[in-house]
Amino acid sequence: MTREYHFRTATDLGREQTELLQEMLDERTRQLIEPAVRPGARCLEIGAGSGSVARWLAGRGASVVAVDLDTEQLTDLRDVAVLRHDINEGVPPGGPFDLIHARTVLMHLQRREQILGELAAALAPGGMLALGEVCLHDPPRLLAVPEPGDAEVFQRVLGMAREAFTGPNGMALDWGLEMDGHLAAAGLQEVRSELFGEPAVGGATVGRYVRNLLLQLSPALAERGCAQSDLDRFAELFLDPRMRCWYLHFVFSSGVKANGAATPTS
Ligand SMILES: C[S@@+](CC[C@H](N)C(=O)[O-])C[C@H]1O[C@@H](n2cnc3c(N)ncnc32)[C@H](O)[C@@H]1O
Repeated sequence: MTREYHFRTATDLGREQTELLQEMLDERTRQLIEPAVRPGARCLEIGAGSGSVARWLAGRGASVVAVDLDTEQLTDLRDVAVLRHDINEGVPPGGPFDLIHARTVLMHLQRREQILGELAAALAPGGMLALGEVCLHDPPRLLAVPEPGDAEVFQRVLGMAREAFTGPNGMALDWGLEMDGHLAAAGLQEVRSELFGEPAVGGATVGRYVRNLLLQLSPALAERGCAQSDLDRFAELFLDPRMRCWYLHFVFSSGVKANGAATPTS
């Protein structure tokens, strides 16, 4: 299968991307998964990125398997079994799991619904499946720009990115809003979801995250005919505090496998 993920964790920009995700999301992620974490709990971290969640789980005494397509950022993890693994190829060994967590991974994968079902099936009775996603405002809502002409740059660049990387064969921008229903349909109980976010402001964390994603996609956008001057101005804009827009929000969803529910043998 060709690689569906358009970004590269094993690059400087990929490292900055995962650092910004940690800054924006780690505290809430820990609150979400904490009820499933105890010494000896078997945990699977999918698309582990820089490993901040896997490291926290191991620090709590859990037994952790961390998988990613790129494991270059997962070198200094103590007490974590790190595996280079494509989750399209199935759930890795080590289950059934008391916690399975994936953050901003499934939205990139075509088989996301099927994979969610496979993950639910790999839970131990009482185990939690916890998912986090980025959703994009469609269309984005521009609130303020520094210079005349910036609104047009914003629309041109984001319009082209949307056309190139989303839709039936690309990232699913509203998958986050659908996860709750899929967790319930997979037979999980205590399904809960929360939606949160803030405007992207140039230079602030969310603004730098948007800039980072666009910088990673810039070579492909330039190949598709996006003007380099637009890409350069876009990158400047998202460092300028006078630039404000609604561009993305986050959704976290979780569900728990019933105690006594059948567990597949592995
Ligand atoms: C946006 S990053 C998120 C990293 C981390 N979960 C976080 O939130 O900080 C997505 C990660 O998923 C990994 N990934 C993408 N497709 C994958 C797949 N099919 N199987 C395993 N990992 C995958 C990427 O390499 C990347 O490290």
